[in-house]
Amino acid sequence: MRVNVPLEKAYLLLNHGPTLLVTATDGGKPNVMASAWNTALDLDPPKIAIVLSGESHTRHLIDRSHELALSIPSSEIADLVLSVGKTTGAEIDKFDRFKIRTFPAKKVGAPLIDGCLGWLECRVIPEPRIAKTYDLLIAEVVSAQVVKGMFGPDGWIFAPKGVATIHHLGKGRFAVPSRTLIAKKK
Ligand SMILES: Cc1cc2nc3c(=O)[nH]c(=O)nc-3n(C[C@H](O)[C@H](O)[C@H](O)COP(=O)(O)O)c2cc1C
Repeated sequence: MRVNVPLEKAYLLLNHGPTLLVTATDGGKPNVMASAWNTALDLDPPKIAIVLSGESHTRHLIDRSHELALSIPSSEIADLVLSVGKTTGAEIDKFDRFKIRTFPAKKVGAPLIDGCLGWLECRVIPEPRIAKTYDLLIAEVVSAQVVKGMFGPDGWIFAPKGVATIHHLGKGRFAVPSRTLIAKKK
């Protein structure tokens, strides 16, 4: 079951730097790619920054639609993240090839990926110079959802050895958060 996250808390979904699945559509076939280089950028209205190669098929779709969706994958689908990050939608339909199930987003056209822990729907803020120079897109978050029970008022709740987000170390190796450390101010 999915629940909405208040938009002013949307940054907490990305605060710890999870690797993401990015989806987009220009009205035709949607596409999906993996993203490690992304971050929360602002609280209210919430914004994100994400580096998406201008060569990627997903980026072409985003440049046409000015929208994207972010699905936050769990450790259970790390293989899928690698698969969609090593193939291009310019050549194959990744949803067919990798049997990816989706469901409709609330505010954007891009589909959301089933089996993930959280989802953000975003509208691109036009910044053509930085998009062209750095492949860096800035977008406003217009909807945020999480799997019920995995997110509290302070953010993610990951049980030890449970399902959690994944964090790309490089070369298909991922780290998974296994413990929450609560720091005290001295
Ligand atoms: C774990 C992982 C993380 C990635 N992170 C990024 C990223 O942050 N930015 C990017 O442009 N490409 C990234 N990639 C590469 C794209 O996902 C890859 O180029 C993909 O094939 C693009 O697909 P498309 O052409 O269907 O859009 C990553 C790949 C993997 C496997």
